[in-house]
Amino acid sequence: MTVSSAPGKVYLFGEHAVVYGEPAVPCAVERRATVTVAARDDDHVRVRAEDLSLNGFTVEYRGSTGDRPDVDVPAPLVEAAMGYIDAAVDQAREAADAPDAGFDITVESDIPLGAGLGSSAAVVVAGIDAATRELGVELAPREIAERAYRAEHEVQDGQASRADTFCSAMGGAVRVEGDDCRTIDAPPLPFVIGFDGGAGDTGALVSGVRALREEYDFAADTVSTVGDIVRRGEELLAESDPDADEPPEELLSELGRFMNFNHGLLEALGVSSRSLDSMVWAAREAGAYGAKLTGAGGGGCIVSLDPTPETQTALRFTPGCEDAFRAELATEGVRVEVPPEADAEAEAETDPEREGDGGNSA
Ligand code: MEV
Repeated sequence: MTVSSAPGKVYLFGEHAVVYGEPAVPCAVERRATVTVAARDDDHVRVRAEDLSLNGFTVEYRGSTGDRPDVDVPAPLVEAAMGYIDAAVDQAREAADAPDAGFDITVESDIPLGAGLGSSAAVVVAGIDAATRELGVELAPREIAERAYRAEHEVQDGQASRADTFCSAMGGAVRVEGDDCRTIDAPPLPFVIGFDGGAGDTGALVSGVRALREEYDFAADTVSTVGDIVRRGEELLAESDPDADEPPEELLSELGRFMNFNHGLLEALGVSSRSLDSMVWAAREAGAYGAKLTGAGGGGCIVSLDPTPETQTALRFTPGCEDAFRAELATEGVRVEVPPEADAEAEAETDPEREGDGGNSA
């Protein structure tokens, strides 16, 4: 058995525009998806999912999810969750050159599904890491990012950027522009997240922006203006001290201003919603430096910057807000929580102090 985890993320700037080659800056946050994988003797894949903001379910299929079983949860949710897990399994089998490998998989996640916090990317990244390790292959985080991107790309009919998967695999703040992905320095930003309890349909939202952009030049200009905001935001981060205990007020104030701009442009592109807008306004009125939706939009989460407790309190009292929480920058991306049994045994043999500790390397 092998257990790996990977973080979710918020977009400081740049969602949607990143799909058209503009840069984006997502930041990994300390909310993780954890995937447990145990190799089977046959080529079946059995999946158990818990805490995915939907009822736990268990499904078993042979080889590919083409043979879908009857389960007692709404079909689109099973389709979505199974699609990502199936694609992660395919990537792991390919990476380990083990096309007939079968697995028992358990997915647990404290990242709400489809809410703009990169839940699917975190599940795919952690799943590929755990499944390949279970097959005796250790991939570098960059290769996991690449394979997770291919998995998301396939499930989302080619409408995925590298941003979510790269950020989840690498951790910290990252910059993505087309195929150019890199980690960047950022101080510990005081993120406060508001969640409306809902989810957007990423595919439909991305298609909506694409259609608008094709029909109207000013929508295309709006997308490239988001790119300008990202470039300005990046400059601010590059000038800041990543080792500072707290980011200076001028930095937060300027980043917040750009977040507000970015939200306005996303709103103009039709991807906000009443609940997202009211959480954004509640955060601003509570004194947050800035607030914007994060991810595909249509419902889900907003992210704001506020080192004080005011925004979180205000969001908790905002109609339409189901949960409000502080999220720290996750400096670590994908990581193994429990290594494969063979590795754990070998480690215990060479390190007597570890004997009997269950082999948990987290
Ligand atoms: C979804 O989390 C972010 C989008 O930019 C799509 C993508 O980058 O793949 C809307």
